[in-house]
Amino acid sequence: MVCLTILTLIFVFLLISPSHGRDFLVGGTHNSWALPLPSQDSLNRWAQNQRFTIGDSLLWKYDKKSESVLEVKEENYGSCNISDPVVSYNDGDTKVDLNRSGPFYFISGSEGHCQKGLKMSVVVLSTRHGGGRISSPAPAPAPSPPDSQDEAAPAPAPHSGGVGGRLGGGGVGELVWVLLWIAVAFVM
Ligand SMILES: *[C@@H]1O[C@H](CO)[C@@H](O)[C@H](O)[C@H]1NC(C)=O
Ligand SMILES: *[C@@H]1O[C@H](CO)[C@@H](O)[C@H](O)[C@H]1NC(C)=O
Repeated sequence: MVCLTILTLIFVFLLISPSHGRDFLVGGTHNSWALPLPSQDSLNRWAQNQRFTIGDSLLWKYDKKSESVLEVKEENYGSCNISDPVVSYNDGDTKVDLNRSGPFYFISGSEGHCQKGLKMSVVVLSTRHGGGRISSPAPAPAPSPPDSQDEAAPAPAPHSGGVGGRLGGGGVGELVWVLLWIAVAFVM
């Protein structure tokens, strides 16, 4: 009984405990934010292979004598306009907290570098566990309720973008769970 209580407490604690964010080194290596690039879209291709969620951070390592990082609005991203950044960094070792969901846009602040491909946009998802912790059977649109008394499934304000795959961190998290449970069961 005591064991069970402890188990439950651990379970609840782990459910509640905030998952801390991960740091992503932009481009995967230290010299990625520099010209020449391996290809015009290499940074965005790197970004598209990652899965960013709120609380993660982007890290840039670059030569601050020749480069900088500007966070810009979408319209200035498209046109490589460096004149009015949202935030500008030039310390050579930049960390940006992805503290909201949605797109972020970054370009080089050096004249002409953005045009040569030194730019990157990332999309941040709202949750890591893609869809929520409790509802595994996502309420599919009920096919045909024949005189059912479904208490009108309260649609919980769907975060756009949070519906991503369950394979990322979530899959690993679940594996850890199972292992933890087995371990604790052994102890009992
Ligand atoms: C760049 O952006 C600024 C401010 O948003 C704007 O005033 C300017 O006209 C833009 N320049 C170009 C070349 O689009
Ligand atoms: C995210 O962080 C930036 C920079 O620290 C800050 O200006 C902005 O208000 C934050 N946004 C949210 C939604 O917390």
